[in-house]
Amino acid sequence: MELVDKLIQKGDLSDEEFASILDSSDPGIGEYLSKKAVAVREAHYGRDVYLRGLIEFTNYCKNNCKYCGIRGGNPSAERYRLSEEEILSCADQGYDLGFRTFVLQGGEDPYFTDERMISIIRGIKAGHPDCAITLSVGERSRESYERMFEAGADRYLLRHETADKAHYEKLHPSDMSFENRMKCLRELKDIGYQVGCGMMIGSPYQKTEHLIKDIRFLQEFRPEMVGIGPFIPHHDTEYAGHNLGSVELTLRMLSIIRLLLPDVLLPATTSLGTADAMGREKGLMAGANVIMPNLSPAGVRGKYLLYDNKICTGDEAAECIRCLENRVEKVGYQIVVSRGDHPGKRRS
Ligand code: 5AD
Ligand code: FES
Repeated sequence: MELVDKLIQKGDLSDEEFASILDSSDPGIGEYLSKKAVAVREAHYGRDVYLRGLIEFTNYCKNNCKYCGIRGGNPSAERYRLSEEEILSCADQGYDLGFRTFVLQGGEDPYFTDERMISIIRGIKAGHPDCAITLSVGERSRESYERMFEAGADRYLLRHETADKAHYEKLHPSDMSFENRMKCLRELKDIGYQVGCGMMIGSPYQKTEHLIKDIRFLQEFRPEMVGIGPFIPHHDTEYAGHNLGSVELTLRMLSIIRLLLPDVLLPATTSLGTADAMGREKGLMAGANVIMPNLSPAGVRGKYLLYDNKICTGDEAAECIRCLENRVEKVGYQIVVSRGDHPGKRRS
């Protein structure tokens, strides 16, 4: 508890001090961290929860991240791609449901060239100029990021996955590199996107020292958003038999990040809701303030499976929103209709 107070007073701790918070077996630490993190979140955002409508528009992927169910090398993944028309209609439905920000998420699918992405971005912006568009389509060239930004994309999510190079190399095949991931993140920021990075908690071979490196990276990079959730094994990967990441540790990391980056946008992720039936609520109560419900058409939801037992794969978007509204209200929060920009970065 003293360490948590010190973290709040000084805005930082030594590596050893962070480690002792993360490794502590005392559940009181998590509770105390949550209480403090919620106070900080409330000072900036009150009890508002921002929604981002997730459109999972392709599960084709040329990469082979070892932990991911839709890696290109998984012959059992049933592949799909939404047409531009389907994507725009998802956004229209989302708009009617109250969404003002859309996240276009997909595997690294070469079919979606810059031209195709630009056309989709312009299409959504033309229909809904008051909406923010977030892209989450992996590593691309600087030029590609620039062109999509000019077309109207506002934000970009690209998880760094781990801030430790050797750990990154364990989790990815040799044709992917830590340096390129970091280069992409810096370019995105430089271009002017609001940037989200993030990592899994409890990914294979992850040690406390890696989480501390993640903390150091976040302190230095200062992203507008940080997506974190527990690692969940997928049956068609070499990590099928590995343990699920700890929900408790995920919550501690959420609270620490809230304390370090007070106005950061922090989602209570689907993986947190999958690892624990009350995971997303617990995330809010540990300092998170964003939820990203799925707007993908019901027919493809069950195919965007990065990990096993993913929640909300059988529901229509409208049902999901109603369910979420209830859940969020039950723990004393309210969903707000707004773009929910990071306070330091509004561009329109
Ligand atoms: N468990 C939890 N999260 C995963 N992701 C990919 N595979 C898994 C898994 N098995 C996360 C990665 C990726 C994001 C889209 O989903 O961090 O960046
Ligand atoms: Fe999707 Fe409850 S949030 S069904």
